[in-house]
Amino acid sequence: MAASDILSQSPSFPKCLNYPSMPTPNPYVLKSNLPFKHTSRALNLRAVLSRNPAETTANPNLPFKHTSRALNLRAVLSRNPAETTASEPKSQNFKHCFTKSDDGYLYCEGVRVQDVMDIVERRPFYLYSKPQINRNFEAYREALGGLNSIIGYAIKANNNLKILEHLRMLGCGAVLVSGNELRLALKAGFDPKRCIFNGNGKLLEDLVLAAQEGVFVNIDSEFDLDNIVSAARIAGKKVNVLLRINPDVDPQVHAYVATGNKNSKFGIRNEKLQWFLDAVKAHPNDLKLVGAHCHLGSTITKAIDVAPLLLVGESVVDIFRDAAVLMVNYIDQIRDQGFEIDYLNIGGGLGIDYYHTGAVLPTPRDLIDTVRELVLSRNLNLIIEPGRSIIANTCCLVNRVTGVKTNGTKNFIVVDGSMSELIRPSLYGAYQHIELVSPSPPDAEISTFDVVGPVCESADFLGKDRELPTPNRGAGLVVHDAGAYCMSMASTYNLKMRPPEYWVEEGGSVAKIRHGETFEDHIRCFEGIRVIGTLDIMIVAIAHESS
Ligand SMILES: Cc1ncc(COP(=O)(O)O)c(C=O)c1O
Repeated sequence: MAASDILSQSPSFPKCLNYPSMPTPNPYVLKSNLPFKHTSRALNLRAVLSRNPAETTANPNLPFKHTSRALNLRAVLSRNPAETTASEPKSQNFKHCFTKSDDGYLYCEGVRVQDVMDIVERRPFYLYSKPQINRNFEAYREALGGLNSIIGYAIKANNNLKILEHLRMLGCGAVLVSGNELRLALKAGFDPKRCIFNGNGKLLEDLVLAAQEGVFVNIDSEFDLDNIVSAARIAGKKVNVLLRINPDVDPQVHAYVATGNKNSKFGIRNEKLQWFLDAVKAHPNDLKLVGAHCHLGSTITKAIDVAPLLLVGESVVDIFRDAAVLMVNYIDQIRDQGFEIDYLNIGGGLGIDYYHTGAVLPTPRDLIDTVRELVLSRNLNLIIEPGRSIIANTCCLVNRVTGVKTNGTKNFIVVDGSMSELIRPSLYGAYQHIELVSPSPPDAEISTFDVVGPVCESADFLGKDRELPTPNRGAGLVVHDAGAYCMSMASTYNLKMRPPEYWVEEGGSVAKIRHGETFEDHIRCFEGIRVIGTLDIMIVAIAHESS
């Protein structure tokens, strides 16, 4: 069938994709000129359920308090001097939602982390800033002004249902890598027409669901195309597909999170592009090719390295633009064959300042501005797939210090959190900033520590060689930037059950947004299991046959 026939059969797509306006203004902007206030405010901790009675039998050696005020958390919003300085926020002077104030306490949006720690039912726990999620989304929404676009939040980064519902309400679409992520996106109310199903090993049954729901599907390989065609037939619906092209651009990140180079397991080989175009043409009733996709990798911080290069008169390093140039060239070639291509999907991958050095990193605006003209010149809708840069810096893992020890050469702070709750340091050697939540006693010695968990693995560490005041037992210690690829990668290794999650809302109330898993949840996986004898019988039968 000719390409023109395919076009005549194709469903039409909305060309204009708009975002609802933000429900809440940027609190930093509002607060920047506020006079210093001395009023205290009672904060409400919502959904504090079933405090563990075992935890209320306090160890007299530990300095933390066990109070009975389970439902009321008092915090003083204006006690955080950092929040009352009248300086204008600057994009290069990024203000973090977790700030250490002059009083030595760590605050999240004006709420003392220590106060939250004292009141919640168990540690470790994840603590988020909801306003920071708004600010991160808003940075993308503003950057995309003037373009038709979809912000597809990558659910793999963090799949908390409450966070997903909130991001959907802000205007996000969703990027999915499994059938369950698709189900969760649907449960969170995402519009399937703003969802993209990615992956190099998508299962037929998941593709059928995607076809039924009408989500975009990326073609990753020959067999993937085959499965998408089958899914379309089973669902009785034509699937809108994008070709995931591997641009072979080196994102200069850890090998485990680089995806857009030649040796990656993701995407089609460039030289097979024509084969895929012919295959799509051969299935006009099942597939409609609507776009091209690439994803370079994750934690990208070298997208724009302008300053040092301009000094020596070289050109700007801009891998996102490099990739986008390649991609629009492919789109030109594809359009030349009669396909109506509406979408360029440039993936996700923007990094964040994990080191807290105040480094000038590329912002969403920098990213979008590098591709804006290309997108406009081809009259394309832009899809972006951010995960980390939306959610990572909104959250800390809050741990309690179990004790401090030394082996003679190395000092260790042992906390209750571990690689089970937060695996990035063990998996990638990733750095995440660590600090104590409360001021240390004046005589606390500053030393260099490895911060480790209780898991029975030498790989179980949260940070290495960190200079910190020697903490008391029971002190609070946070691992920053834990919103992305931490809880979603958490396991129950050593039967450390996945922790609860909370967020600080606008106005300073603290709400639970996920229950911690319990030992009983683990036992439930074995309830009702009967011994199955069939396999034994089959093995005996086969043995008889062959004898
Ligand atoms: C295809 C795709 N899109 C988007 C993302 C999200 O990337 P990030 O969280 O770095 O923005 C990933 C993550 O690896 C991905 O593989």
